[in-house]
Amino acid sequence: MSLRLNLPALMLAAISLAAGAQTNAILIGTVNSSLSLFVGRDGRLYQRGYGRSAPEAAMPAKDPARETEFYPQFGDGFILEPALQATHGDGNTSTDLEYVRHTTTTLDDDTTLTRIELKDKFYPFFVTLCFKACQKEDVIEQWAEIRHVERGPVTLWRFASSAPVFRAKQYWLTQFHGDWADEAQMLEERLTPGLKVLDSKLGVRASRFRTPSFILSLNKPAAEKTGETYGGSLAWSGSFQLAFEVDWDNRLRALAGINPFDSQYRLQRGQVFSTPAMLWTWSDHGEGQVSRNFHHWAMLHGLRDGAQPRPVLLNNWEATYFDFNENKLVSLLDGARDLGVELFLLDDGWFGNQYPRNDDRAGLGDWQVNTNKLPRGLSFLAGQARQRGLRFGIWLEPEMVNPASALYHRHPEWAVGQLHREPETSRHQLDLDLTRPAVKEFAWNVVAGTLGPNPDITYLKWDANRYITQPGSTWLQPEEQSRLWIDYTLALYHNMARLKQNFPNVTAMLCSGGGGRADYGALKYFHCFWPSDNTDPARRVFIQWGFSHFFPACALCNHVTRSGHRPVKFALDVAMSGDLGFDVDLAKTSPADRAAMAQAITLYKDELRAIVQQGDLYRLESPYDGPRACLDYVTPDRSKAVLFVYQLKDGEAGSVKPRGLDPARKYQVRELNLPAGAVSTMAENGETADGAALMKDGIQPSCRQANQSAVIEFH
Ligand code: DGJ
Repeated sequence: MSLRLNLPALMLAAISLAAGAQTNAILIGTVNSSLSLFVGRDGRLYQRGYGRSAPEAAMPAKDPARETEFYPQFGDGFILEPALQATHGDGNTSTDLEYVRHTTTTLDDDTTLTRIELKDKFYPFFVTLCFKACQKEDVIEQWAEIRHVERGPVTLWRFASSAPVFRAKQYWLTQFHGDWADEAQMLEERLTPGLKVLDSKLGVRASRFRTPSFILSLNKPAAEKTGETYGGSLAWSGSFQLAFEVDWDNRLRALAGINPFDSQYRLQRGQVFSTPAMLWTWSDHGEGQVSRNFHHWAMLHGLRDGAQPRPVLLNNWEATYFDFNENKLVSLLDGARDLGVELFLLDDGWFGNQYPRNDDRAGLGDWQVNTNKLPRGLSFLAGQARQRGLRFGIWLEPEMVNPASALYHRHPEWAVGQLHREPETSRHQLDLDLTRPAVKEFAWNVVAGTLGPNPDITYLKWDANRYITQPGSTWLQPEEQSRLWIDYTLALYHNMARLKQNFPNVTAMLCSGGGGRADYGALKYFHCFWPSDNTDPARRVFIQWGFSHFFPACALCNHVTRSGHRPVKFALDVAMSGDLGFDVDLAKTSPADRAAMAQAITLYKDELRAIVQQGDLYRLESPYDGPRACLDYVTPDRSKAVLFVYQLKDGEAGSVKPRGLDPARKYQVRELNLPAGAVSTMAENGETADGAALMKDGIQPSCRQANQSAVIEFH
């Protein structure tokens, strides 16, 4: 079981150091940060520090404390939360790893790969710690590869991806917790002695609990511009655990990985268990720079086609829900074309005949076009879209089944569930057991069988609307049931990788009952994700704010709807700070609102999209701290910027100070997206000033009341 590519072919230069050779220090560096490790006299691997770039330091005079062991193992003297726990073939529950060798390889001009090989002092049990250091982005990806050649299988109980140690007076942790329609809500707390665990035990749709990312600030609460700050994001869509332990000496260890809960894994001789990558970044310029590091990394390494503009789309979900037919959809296509939209996305409800998908009670699993609703099939609709100059996209939920489906009647054993228990449905559906090879193939054929025959479908929304509550498999052996959580996610990734490989021209949106899959494990196969089913722009500001800490604007699909009944300008301005889209029935929209939408689409396509989707984000005023939220995006060459102001409560809030501008350059200030016929009342509108003055004095937007907004360009 290995998710990794065979890297030796990519090795351009490699150095190999064995224990006791030139040095016992190992430095994993990026432009501004470094993770400094060393081998102690006892042969164990220890951490010296992680933070500002430092030259290799000399070996400490004293023996290091066991608590600073870099990847500690249970059972042979280490008494805190371990990174690794294994029961060996003979029943021994301890592991004692020592350093063997390490290599550092240059993969390309931005990336090095360091592999540190560790071996148990007695057993033929090996752990390779892997570090991909992305230089310019200051991101270090870390994962572990575990294998053995013992006689019998080894049971792995714990298998963190990463477990670095921090040393400061205080530790402030921000989590991004949530629920359906309430994703990525920020909450910061000071860590106290003991263990703080942030996790998901759901397998799918983690957002019910939280998203697997966090911010850690040293010595003071996190701030946008200042302070030593770390960002962590686990590239895993299944159950995860982020555990923070402050010990008696006020050291902090942050363990991140697959949730060990109910997940013990019997590893066969020769098999490789690769943990998911944990992404770390560090900055001494606060969480703003931490976010920009993640964004830069994502656009180069973490997302598909990071530089490709994301299309402006119209989705029919909130426009029609399940209630549509061919005529209705064709009328939506007409409206989309008239508005200037680039792609039409057909959502849930287009399939199922014996069990028609007319609501969420039936049809999942039967992926044949519903001939009552769409008698001429998907290719007809996609052709209609093409004739109107629109791309066409489709919604799928390949991992799920309704008991009311032909599939379930044929294969009840394909669903995840426990023997002798009544199947517990959620949204009237069950998860398909992807660990069963036939099910994995079936799920892949849902994708391939929909996209393959319809080359006009060039966009896919991949949804998953329930999580696992009865974790049993009729495929896995009784003693292997706990593999379900992990093997499900690996099978899912295999299918997602096939999507990327077989359909390179299909733009892919990741979705899981709203923002339930917002992680870089799945996102590497996708272009963007759906952050939430909550599309009320006043709530959406908070959700987008939360996700912006880890994901660039081009990854966030922001749709304009009528939810919350806010002014259409406010809804448009909120959506334009990410990938602009629409979920509205245009026939029910007033001519004035339609005109406002058309104007915003033109503005977005012609001017704003490139700045927002490719620019650097500066969060200026948090919606958690005052009556409004403000943020700006600046092009990489700093020639243009766009500032968004969202007034959430009534009240004067003073001037907004943009950031990221070139201090020496002159910018013209222009308020954009004004209602037809309106003139900006902003004093600075039309004026020219240098970046330094603009950033120092700020500008005074005209928003005063809740639901007002402004879009201001610096050119
Ligand atoms: C949940 C998604 O978040 C929605 O956008 C929509 O696609 C529905 N599923 C369809 O069932």
